[in-house]
Amino acid sequence: MAGVSDNRNSEVTPEIYLNGQFLPPEEARISVMDRGFLFGDGVYEVVPCYAGRLFRLEHHLQRLDNSLRGIRMENPLDRPQWQALLERLIAQLPGADQSIYLQITRGSSGRREHAIPSGIEPTVFVMTQPAIYPDAATLATGIKAVTLPDNRWERCNIKAITLLANVLLRSEAKDRGAAEAILIRDGFATEGAASNLFIVQSGEIITPPKSDHLLPGITRDLVLELAQQHAQPYTEKEISRQMLDDADEVWITSSTKEVMAVVELDGRPVGNGKPGPIYSRMAGFYSEYKALLQAGRILS
Ligand code: PDD
Repeated sequence: MAGVSDNRNSEVTPEIYLNGQFLPPEEARISVMDRGFLFGDGVYEVVPCYAGRLFRLEHHLQRLDNSLRGIRMENPLDRPQWQALLERLIAQLPGADQSIYLQITRGSSGRREHAIPSGIEPTVFVMTQPAIYPDAATLATGIKAVTLPDNRWERCNIKAITLLANVLLRSEAKDRGAAEAILIRDGFATEGAASNLFIVQSGEIITPPKSDHLLPGITRDLVLELAQQHAQPYTEKEISRQMLDDADEVWITSSTKEVMAVVELDGRPVGNGKPGPIYSRMAGFYSEYKALLQAGRILS
């Protein structure tokens, strides 16, 4: 997707955090025996930071706890430790919009064995980068998407680093000239390859309920919260293939794409082929929320 938002300090390469140390990325080393490297045995989070303020940190850390529990790991850091660590990393790009990536893998027992070994230390890696958010032109135009079979595993609610299916699905969408793949499982649309899904039908927003078949998106939850606050009708229910095809509006949400309209699906226009009125309303509320956070008028 085109467009890089204007970020101060973009020439600075921030230090990363690895297992208790802050260091330049090129000096960071992990073992080739790390289970993250060998098996994709780990979980991650992407936390936006607007004007130096962490976006919905508690929600991200709560989801991290759920992901860790889902793969039988404990959180190696407590809340104050996470807060201090992230604050220290983002302070390297003062006031900038940033995207924090954090990853916890199960670490290494020194040998390759599938079953989970006992008594090993996890690997904790965190980095921050200047944010690459969709530019105003892309937000105003919307994106193209294609539908593809959801061939991922049955535990998509865990934010696992094992993303090969998502990588192949997003790449297939790209090959077909689209920015996102909307995934269909058993005749129902679940989510995007790296985003949640919303449609609008007769003035009502619809998004699938949380389940093992989709990631409980932090942006998704905020959009629903904003809908509630502003008395915008919404419901959480399954979206059949037919409902998707007949939708007046289709959008996706994620920490990096924010709220984005899909204006073409499988080569056909969605609605009149432009971002719809309910999209514009909700994207407006989302921007207001960001502006309040940037101004320090809300905390997270
Ligand atoms: N992905 N569903 C999937 C499969 C995702 O990978 C993501 C985000 C989302 C949206 O979740 P959130 O609103 O909390 O970002 C839904 C991140 C951005 C990534 O993998 O880079």
